[in-house]
Amino acid sequence: MQNRKISIAPSIMCADLCNLEKSVREIERVGIDTLHIDIIDGSFSPSMPLGIDTVKQLRKITNMDFDVHIMAKENEFFIQEMIDIGVEQITFHIESSVHIDRYVNLIRNSGAKVGIALNPATPLSVLDYVLPQCDTVLLMLINPGFATDKGEKQISYAVKKVKDLHRYIQEKGLSTRIEVDGRVSLESIPSLVDAGADILVAGSTSLFVKGNSLAENKQIMEKGISEGISLGEVVR
Ligand code: DX5
Ligand code: ZN
Repeated sequence: MQNRKISIAPSIMCADLCNLEKSVREIERVGIDTLHIDIIDGSFSPSMPLGIDTVKQLRKITNMDFDVHIMAKENEFFIQEMIDIGVEQITFHIESSVHIDRYVNLIRNSGAKVGIALNPATPLSVLDYVLPQCDTVLLMLINPGFATDKGEKQISYAVKKVKDLHRYIQEKGLSTRIEVDGRVSLESIPSLVDAGADILVAGSTSLFVKGNSLAENKQIMEKGISEGISLGEVVR
């Protein structure tokens, strides 16, 4: 896995939601160009950090790439809303989708990148027919909607699932990116990157770790990323 580009996608729900513009500027200042934006409907998962109009307002104040992660029952409604706002990637959950292929086409035809998200226990086989149309597969490493529950730990099979997905993508000769979301901590980054993760959703256990500045946490993350890449270069 040579010359890999691993990107950091800060989860804006973990920033100061009472001072969103200030949070966005702080993230821009440390040289990050992507925002991970969770849209949770309160029904697919018991949480609702950000609304559609919040995203509309954010769109007006920054040119950062919006990596939108929809956790909802009515996927088509939220997908269309995000297309109308103009975002770079739209990811929806396969577990709440009846018309998966339709949603993939809707997103692709809008010009946005297509992401499909899997809950922790969802097997990779659900991707069999749709993987070639995906730009990204997002693996939830915690149960979605429980990010603010400090008792919610990363699943024990996180690295195994990333490795399995990486192998699955390679076997199909695809270049689909793997996004990991949920307790992607400063400590777990090297093993997740070594396993094949390409996009790291950064929240309270990494970029927003209290006591350090964003710049300090970003530096620790980048150190973990290069550690993970060099692990992969070790001849096994
Ligand atoms: C979960 C959210 C993230 C994530 C945050 O869907 O996308 O907020 O859990 O990262 P951590 O888990 O490190 O706070
Ligand atoms: Zn997310």
